Amino acid sequence: MALGLRLCLFLFSLLLAALQGDVAAALTRRDFPDGFVFGAGTSSYQVEGAVAEDGRKPSIWDTFSQGGYSADKSNGDVAADQYHHYKEDVKLMHEMGLDAYRFSIAWPRLIPDGRGDVNPKGLEYYNNLIDELIRHGIQPHVTIYHFDLPQSLQDEYDGLLSPRFVDDYTMFAETCFKSFGDRVKHWVTLNEPNVEGLGGFDTGTMPPRRCSYPFGANCTAGDSTREPYIAAHHLLLAHAAAVSLYRSKYQEAQRGQVGITLLAAWYEPATAASPDDVAAAARMNDFEIGWFMHPLVYGDYPPVMKSRVGARLPAMTMDLSKNLTGSFDFIGLNHYLMLNARHDEHAFNLKHRDYAADTAIADAMKDIQEGHGKYAPWALGSLLDHMRVNYGNPPIIIHENGRADFVKDPSTIRTDDYPRSEVLQDYLEVLHMSIRNGSDARGYFVWSFLDLFELANGNTLRFGLIGVDMTVKERTRYVRNSARWYSSFLNGGELRQPAAPKKQYYDSA
Ligand SMILES: *[C@@H]1O[C@H](CO)[C@@H](O)[C@H](O)[C@H]1NC(C)=O
Ligand SMILES: *[C@@H]1O[C@H](CO)[C@@H](O)[C@H](O)[C@H]1NC(C)=O
Ligand SMILES: *[C@@H]1O[C@H](CO)[C@@H](O)[C@H](O)[C@H]1NC(C)=O
Repeated sequence: MALGLRLCLFLFSLLLAALQGDVAAALTRRDFPDGFVFGAGTSSYQVEGAVAEDGRKPSIWDTFSQGGYSADKSNGDVAADQYHHYKEDVKLMHEMGLDAYRFSIAWPRLIPDGRGDVNPKGLEYYNNLIDELIRHGIQPHVTIYHFDLPQSLQDEYDGLLSPRFVDDYTMFAETCFKSFGDRVKHWVTLNEPNVEGLGGFDTGTMPPRRCSYPFGANCTAGDSTREPYIAAHHLLLAHAAAVSLYRSKYQEAQRGQVGITLLAAWYEPATAASPDDVAAAARMNDFEIGWFMHPLVYGDYPPVMKSRVGARLPAMTMDLSKNLTGSFDFIGLNHYLMLNARHDEHAFNLKHRDYAADTAIADAMKDIQEGHGKYAPWALGSLLDHMRVNYGNPPIIIHENGRADFVKDPSTIRTDDYPRSEVLQDYLEVLHMSIRNGSDARGYFVWSFLDLFELANGNTLRFGLIGVDMTVKERTRYVRNSARWYSSFLNGGELRQPAAPKKQYYDSA
């Protein structure tokens, strides 16, 4: 690049920095509280590959994606092949300067039949990964269950629809605490239980593909009006049981923390002047976040859910209510988008309803599943304010936040990803302000550490700080500019870095 142009860009970036305010421009990681953890994350089925190796058996996601149901008909058979590349990946994390790596344990790799014998090769893999992380000074933050239910449990008793799920899950969780808890100090019982029931049991667009007319299409069985609530209830029971177990048997000796991670978009009224839309946005936040937060803090479902869902909402027993109240040391939040809630009078008055109609938000399910929202960094501030004011200001870890590139040709890597860095910078700036405003946020994880199999979207969406060429057997890794930016910030550099004009980046393919 010519020197003159470079100078111009530099002056332009100074101007931008001045417009954004000097305070923000000078933010560094030292402005975050002591002990604040910066990391990046993935999940087992999305990165590991090696699905039929060393004793692993299928999960419901294998069945789904091998059946050709993800958007581009790809599957996670190889994904980023982290099973074979974990040493290289930990080295990249170390070079990036991550404090922590968030990953999940594949239940069908550790306990292939869902219950019973532990697979020694599975145990060995996670021991190796955890040891490698610790050797490099990186904290393992482990999600016990991230959607990949053993297919055998689905076949045997319909998985999440049966209370038997709770016992099998608790045994699996105990195997994790017992095997890895000497080194793992941050446990998440469940990832996004508030999403799992919807795609799987309402629209039928995710495994195990259950739904009923007129709410979903192409399902062979299901009941969209009830099953999403039953699945979620069993997930709450499973969470309560795992936390009770950890607290009574392991926490004192292992001195770790346990929490749960929820998807938390943020809903704003589509029309601020419309009382109906204002009520709709509040209702939607209660249906999405309150569905789990209300039980976890107050021991019961939110009042608006009880009145809208009525007898279809499983009853909360005294015993469960007691176990749920306060059953977390922190709350993980996965936050990406802000959505506009528009009151849907027709859905509001329907007698025969599913979750979407219960929320009575126009396009609610489309929004949730297709990510119709937009990046609005201030919405993270509103979300954290909501957590502070309505749920007693719990310790929060932002477990997912990031930006995807859509790629048509899966061999496209695009390392020049300024828009990704910019989104991350915007959100970190708001996070910092929220902490100054009193939020008890304690960590932030970029989604994702590297390109991965994006569940329902397959290989068309790339979230990685590290790019992965999914078209070659070697699954070659490429360090993106966003990884270099994050690394510089993690090593004490300024959050805002001189930005080249955006156009240049958006135009490059
Ligand atoms: C249902 O299946 C038909 C035929 O395969 C397909 O055209 C349609 O898009 C499917 N509907 C949904 C909602 O998946
Ligand atoms: C509640 O916790 C107690 C003690 O840990 C346990 O015995 C009981 O089964 C739990 N009940 C539920 C519904 O979680
Ligand atoms: C912090 O509080 C101020 C004053 O109430 C408010 O204007 C601002 O939006 C808040 N910012 C965040 C990120 O919560």
